[in-house]
Amino acid sequence: MDNFSLEVLLSPEQIESVVTDLAEQINRDYKDKKLLLVGLLKGSIVFMSDLMRKIKLPCEVDFISASSYGSSTHTCGTVKITKDLSADISNYDVLVVEDIVDSGVTLSCILDILRDRGPQSIRLCTLLDKPDRRIKEVFVDYRGICIPDKFVVGYGLDYAEKYRNLPSLCVLKNIDG
Ligand code: IMP
Ligand code: MG
Repeated sequence: MDNFSLEVLLSPEQIESVVTDLAEQINRDYKDKKLLLVGLLKGSIVFMSDLMRKIKLPCEVDFISASSYGSSTHTCGTVKITKDLSADISNYDVLVVEDIVDSGVTLSCILDILRDRGPQSIRLCTLLDKPDRRIKEVFVDYRGICIPDKFVVGYGLDYAEKYRNLPSLCVLKNIDG
C-alpha cells in the first residue's frame, strides 16, 4: 500500500491573505458589472466559498464540472462537461474560479466553451498556478500564487478524492520513494 506524508506549503493564514488580495482586486474591477462566479468542481469549492464571502459586490454563483473521460453531450478535445451551468450566461460578466492551473488543458477548453456562449466578459481567477507544467497557454487574470511543480492537496484539492478537507495546502510525498 502507498504510504504518503504531507508537508505544509501554505498555512490557513497564508491562504487567507492570498484570497483577501484576490477579492480586493475583484471588488475594484467589478463595480457596476453583473458578476457571475463560475466554480470548476470539485477542486474550487473551498476557495470559492472563502473568496465569495470577501466579495463585497452583488454577485451570483454557479458551478460546472468537466472530466477528460466519460460520456457527455458537450465535448472539446478529450474534455467533457459532466455537469453544466444552470443558466444562460449571456448577460453576465463571468469570472471562472479555479483551484489550480496545471497543464491548462481542461481550463482552456472550458474557457472556449463558455466564451462561445457570449457572456459580457470572461476572466479567470485561480488560487494556484503551476506554470512549469503548462501545455496549453491560458491567460490568468487573477493569480493567487505560483507554486513549484509538486503535487499538492488540501483546501479543496484532492488525491484520489481524499484530502480536500485539509485546511492547509500540503505537498503530498510518497515516502516509499
Ligand atoms: P489542468 O492540467 O490545468 O487541466 O488541470 C486539471 C485539474 O487537475 C485541476 O483543475 C486540478 O483539479 C487538478 N490538479 C492539477 N494539479 C494538481 C495538484 O497538484 N493537486 C491536485 N489536483 C491537481
Ligand atoms: Mg480543478
